[in-house]
Amino acid sequence: MIRSVVQGCGSYLPERVVTNADLAKTMDTSDEWIQQRTGIRQRHIAADGELTSHLALKASERALAHAGLKASDLDLIVLATATPDETFPATATRVQAALGMTGGAAFDVQAVCAGFVYGLSVADSLIKTGLASTALVIGAETFSRILDWNDRGTCVLFGDGAGAVVLRAEEGKGTTADRGVLANALHSDGRQHDILYVDGGPSSTQTTGFLRMEGKEVFKHAVVNMAAVVGEVLAKAGFETKDIDWLVPHQANKRIIDSTGRKLGLPPERVVVTVDRHANTSAASIPLALDAAVKDGRIKKNDLLLLEGIGGGLAWGASLVRW
Ligand code: ACO
Repeated sequence: MIRSVVQGCGSYLPERVVTNADLAKTMDTSDEWIQQRTGIRQRHIAADGELTSHLALKASERALAHAGLKASDLDLIVLATATPDETFPATATRVQAALGMTGGAAFDVQAVCAGFVYGLSVADSLIKTGLASTALVIGAETFSRILDWNDRGTCVLFGDGAGAVVLRAEEGKGTTADRGVLANALHSDGRQHDILYVDGGPSSTQTTGFLRMEGKEVFKHAVVNMAAVVGEVLAKAGFETKDIDWLVPHQANKRIIDSTGRKLGLPPERVVVTVDRHANTSAASIPLALDAAVKDGRIKKNDLLLLEGIGGGLAWGASLVRW
């Protein structure tokens, strides 16, 4: 059985760090309010002229170096983003050109904060069907460009960044001991559009628009849907919660992460948390958290990882990966 095995990972954060105290200088907010409600202490914000593709490229170069592979080895790039450089073409093609990769396919996936899990599932499926053999899956965002900086209820929650993994087709035994992506589960519910969306776009307003959110509603759906999809993906692959070595959740809010961990009965030491340093980087948050825990030595070869995320759509999903 073909498995999509992770060969390497990488990430990149813009240089500029904006703390809660920095925000409190320009708007009616406080470090205490933000930390208590979300666990966020700071976020990275892209420089003028620094685009999603630039962040994605740096994360991709690091992931390729970590994997010991070259751009010419790739035959697929899937870039998850809700903040593309342009309406078209896909930002993935910008990254493709900048990497010097000429063959294969490159395209974007749009599932907002669930984007990385969606992108991973798409790449895994293409590898399993033989359409690709070596894939770069990237989550990259410049959410600072779609925030209403006059809306303190949303603008304090997000940051910019990028993360990437390299997947390679390997023959597995088809057992739970295989390395690679072992199962995926994806869902969406378009009826929940109004609780989290951007009020602009090429076809509706011909403007980019700003993020709008009913925070309490999103919170409720996030907690319920995360617990359900995690149970689903574990059952698909024949695992139980106790088998998980690391929960690597989408980093929206420390309270959502804690609540998911509690529902699963996972001790906090087995949950990777970076929301304090990165804030919510949407599709980039899972690969950023993953890279942090791989590079600091927590995540080791053969560990069982559960990745999960939810965002606008609503769209949500989970993946089980043996590292
Ligand atoms: N600083 C200070 N006060 C604030 C701020 C701020 N940045 N933002 C809002 N307030 C005030 C409000 O004006 C309100 O004041 P009032 O009582 O005088 O009217 C008060 O704080 C409470 O506001 P609520 O919006 O009710 O605050 P809540 O406790 O719901 O917390 C939050 C808001 C943090 C957004 C919470 O609802 C939440 O975490 N939701 C999850 C949403 C999320 O994480 N979304 C990310 C995108 S989706 C995803 O990635 C899963």
